[in-house]
Amino acid sequence: MKNINQQKRIWLVGASQGIGLELTKLWLSMGYRVVASSRQAEESAELALLKVQYQDQLVCLNIDISQPNTCTEKVEEAWQAFKGLDLWFYNVGTYQPMTTDQWDWESFVSMNQTNYLGVVALMLPLQKLFQQQGEGRWVWNASLAAYFGLPYGGAYSAPKAALINLAEALQPELAKQGIKLQLVNHGFVRTRLTAKNAFSMPGLLEPEAAAKLIVNGIEKNKHFELRFPKRLRLVLSLLKCLLKCLPYAWALRLTKKMLKDSI
Ligand SMILES: NC(=O)c1ccc[n+]([C@@H]2O[C@H](COP(=O)([O-])OP(=O)(O)OC[C@H]3O[C@@H](n4cnc5c(N)ncnc54)[C@H](OP(=O)(O)O)[C@@H]3O)[C@@H](O)[C@H]2O)c1
Repeated sequence: MKNINQQKRIWLVGASQGIGLELTKLWLSMGYRVVASSRQAEESAELALLKVQYQDQLVCLNIDISQPNTCTEKVEEAWQAFKGLDLWFYNVGTYQPMTTDQWDWESFVSMNQTNYLGVVALMLPLQKLFQQQGEGRWVWNASLAAYFGLPYGGAYSAPKAALINLAEALQPELAKQGIKLQLVNHGFVRTRLTAKNAFSMPGLLEPEAAAKLIVNGIEKNKHFELRFPKRLRLVLSLLKCLLKCLPYAWALRLTKKMLKDSI
């Protein structure tokens, strides 16, 4: 293993629960240095335990990405923690399935902030730092659910689709600055987010397994988009092709079949 000061420096935003917590554990076990952020990272019992084990490798840093006026300062703190960053992983996300009877403005705003605008709030100050450094990687966790708007999930998937679109738009320009931008689009993982789903979730993964696939994909560093699990990925890719290639009238007739009496 490399000397600790030569190991990768990662800023994981959305590190205290679910997939993010498992990513933190894995990266620390690999010897990497991690700045672990979420609204209450500094108070998290799980992260505090990891801090006991990995004193010099872990810094916990609170950030609320729905408060963009504090983000520049937080970016500076994250950058200074290990004197630069090799990887910024944006993992924050919130999800609330809703029928039109359950709609409310706050839920839409919250999902837009966490699933899309939070990335923007952080990337504006981060881009300058990474450009000065001359290299680095950004990985954003979007979702397979963003491929085509599906009933009840639109408030979640619309900002995720915006995130994917933004990544597509920025990738070439950032690449010229030495910043490699990649996306993770995965399926269902058992966390507090999917605990809100009343339907059976094909290919449901445990967060440990999802984190392993993400870490392996990042290590391989091959593709713009990291997608899993394989079977759901194939089904959804086919669905995406089908829905996007079909005339809308046909595609929407298919998604209409997904409507239920209640969710
Ligand atoms: N679970 C799935 O099936 C699934 C599928 C596809 C994609 N994803 C994506 O994977 C990512 C992780 O999901 P998960 O299921 O692991 O969710 P999770 O268990 O709810 O974890 C989300 C993380 O984001 C943090 N967070 C939430 N709001 C925040 C805010 N305003 N500011 C800063 N941090 C905030 C949370 O910590 P605090 O609450 O302590 O701030 C937590 O650490 C999300 O982007 C999600 O959309 C999940």
